[in-house]
Amino acid sequence: MKKRIFSGAQPTGELHIGNYLGALKNWVALQDDYEAFYCIVNLHAITLPQDPNSLREKTLDLARIYLAAGVDPQRSTIFIQSDVAEHAELTWVLSCISRMGELERMTQFKDKGKGNSGAGVGLFTYPVLMASDILLYQTDLVPVGQDQKQHLELSRDLAERFNRDYGVAFKIPEPYIPKAGASIKSLQDPAKKMSKSDENLNGSIFLLDDADTITKKIKRAVTDSGTEITFDESRPAINNLLTIYQLVTDKTQDECLAQFEGKGYGQFKGELAEATVEFLRPFQARVKDYDDDALSRILRTGAEKARSIAAATLSDVYAKMGLR
Ligand code: AMP
Ligand code: TRP
Repeated sequence: MKKRIFSGAQPTGELHIGNYLGALKNWVALQDDYEAFYCIVNLHAITLPQDPNSLREKTLDLARIYLAAGVDPQRSTIFIQSDVAEHAELTWVLSCISRMGELERMTQFKDKGKGNSGAGVGLFTYPVLMASDILLYQTDLVPVGQDQKQHLELSRDLAERFNRDYGVAFKIPEPYIPKAGASIKSLQDPAKKMSKSDENLNGSIFLLDDADTITKKIKRAVTDSGTEITFDESRPAINNLLTIYQLVTDKTQDECLAQFEGKGYGQFKGELAEATVEFLRPFQARVKDYDDDALSRILRTGAEKARSIAAATLSDVYAKMGLR
């Protein structure tokens, strides 16, 4: 039997090339060898206030993005988190075995909510919902960017704790974090990751940016002192740009180094802009491929398949805890 993978992204903001290179690209590659579940995590999105109409729209847009990136609905299950009630139900159960201290240590919570008594409780329990997503499907592998590693460790801890205290109900999932691209940085500040919530729009290349916009953003990207174009963590701006180049062209590091040896930043940025535009072109063309009906069918079928697996796990969990 094929091993299982599960991953998801939030239908908030606009997806950027960091999401693509850190996560989506691997989702597509892994679906050949794994039984894959790709979820649109709209329940995570409401941990911050969302406009209902815009949330509905963004949820479908994100499904289109998964499909355009190459997630194949014949092979992989694509579904909306809120269509499968078990995600919320298991979250309650896992909340009851989670500890305040371990959730307080989550860096995403520290960044977004800690110390602010007006912050929503959902921001605090966010990683428990994520653990439920993963554990409901007896997931073997979770392809994510570096920023999700800590949440994945929590998922493993909760699974191990439940299995130990109530009997084995969950598989212990492994993270899959790519060697290159796990943390693409802002083009304006390479100390920060490229992020949907960055106010400086020049820091991110969005997946639906047109060629002109992409070229302008790359031309404006900050660089490091010096002139060499190398993979070197101590020169994070150039390292980041070269990593993007490597991933959008599928070249090896050596090929990239050889190509830009002795060349200036100007020329490098020109070639990077061109390669990025080319990389996104077929993706952007496919985003309009699915009309609303086709999309609804895919999501409905996806939710049914997901529900059948999630329900089996949840009923085992309830039985083991004495709930039914
Ligand atoms: P999100 O949009 O926050 O739901 O993230 C979706 C996926 O993209 C997750 O697997 C993240 O780890 C990944 N991701 C987000 N930002 C970056 C980044 N700057 N570089 C690499 N991967 C990222
Ligand atoms: N928390 C993840 C993020 O912000 C999204 C997510 C929710 C997820 N549930 C998941 C990723 C389950 C992998 C597996 O990127």
